[in-house]
Amino acid sequence: MANLKIDEIPTFLVTGGVGFIGANFILQARQSKWANIINLDKLTYASNLQSLAELQNDPNYYFVLGDINNYELVQYILQQYRPDAVINFAAETHVDRSIFSPQSFIQTNVVGTFQLLEASKAYWQKLTSPKQENFRFLHISTDEVYGSLNPTDPAFREDTPYAPNSPYAASKASADHLVRSYYHTYGLPTLTTNCSNNYGPLQFPEKLIPLTILNALNGKTLPIYGDGQNIRDWLYVGDHCDAIHLVLKEGLIGESYNIGGLNEQTNLAVVENICSILDDLSPKDNFKHSSLITFIKDRPGHDRRYAIDCSKISQNLNWQPKENFDSGLLKTVHWYLNNSAWLESVCTGTYQNWIQQNYESR
Ligand code: NAD
Ligand code: TYD
Repeated sequence: MANLKIDEIPTFLVTGGVGFIGANFILQARQSKWANIINLDKLTYASNLQSLAELQNDPNYYFVLGDINNYELVQYILQQYRPDAVINFAAETHVDRSIFSPQSFIQTNVVGTFQLLEASKAYWQKLTSPKQENFRFLHISTDEVYGSLNPTDPAFREDTPYAPNSPYAASKASADHLVRSYYHTYGLPTLTTNCSNNYGPLQFPEKLIPLTILNALNGKTLPIYGDGQNIRDWLYVGDHCDAIHLVLKEGLIGESYNIGGLNEQTNLAVVENICSILDDLSPKDNFKHSSLITFIKDRPGHDRRYAIDCSKISQNLNWQPKENFDSGLLKTVHWYLNNSAWLESVCTGTYQNWIQQNYESR
């Protein structure tokens, strides 16, 4: 392994940093000089090394190809680079895939998080003061662990009981419980964040927003599950990254923080919004992108509504989302229009197979 040039800033071991949120976080961390970064990623279908191409010659960024399940490798990285924090983004993340094949979700999200906790505990226990007190294990999780809300239910709080409904949500809930137990049992200084749906640059086009943009640009149908009235809270990815950094610096160890965009939208409204942006930015004669909207068979066990009460992070850590949905969505559509090479590179044969499996059998 090459040596990282350590500046007088902290060093973070980021896992899953070649995926959507991890890559945005690393780019922000390096641009703002928050930290030196070691990025451990298995490079699953959801990753794209092009996302981090601009860091190619950055001496304070180092990529390691590997699996969080590999305890020895993680131990080696921790000993070699002596990070001040481990930030766990690595996960299988797509609910529909978890319905078709849940095995990899259990292996990475549950067992992988366990292995990472074990390796981090062994490393942390041997640290000396003050590095030991300052060490953090930050686990990135989701609002989906809380289950589904009815229209008038109050938004999810940190003390809302867990009620995961998909294999994905159940695997993330299991991981959250393991993280919690490592704080209570061993004193490992953990933090957990539970965030709502993210959108923005670098998201793999299996998720609603980039899938809609890609299909609309190619004149393909825009698939909406069920009646399109399921509600998600949407947060721009850059705001999520700011919140993660803040929790890392100022969060109370052993605690969890809900992060949300204060922005509940039905799926139909999200897709219609993207269509009208594309009508302006990529107009076609006598054609409205919304004519491509197609209602298809619902996702099994589809959660009806998610909403996040983020008063804890806003009151205790003074965090607010900076981006509103109109400005964030416009930026996102612009990014996809200007980055067709990135999109093409992820739309390989494997991607086409997934599209066929998920949509043609409905
Ligand atoms: P993503 O699917 O885009 O990326 C996941 C990354 O993890 C990929 O680069 C992949 O190669 C890597 N990875 C998978 N298994 C691995 C393993 N065993 N070892 C090492 N690397 C592995 O995911 P994302 O959308 O960036 O989500 C990141 C984290 O944030 C996840 O933990 C997810 O549960 C959580 N989260 C996501 C959202 C969202 O809307 N995308 C919302 C809230 C929370
Ligand atoms: P998704 O982006 O998969 O995120 P999550 O399931 O983690 O919330 O889906 C967001 C919402 O959009 C969800 O309610 C399912 C719905 N959806 C569709 O209606 N059509 C699609 O093709 C996809 C991928 C999602």
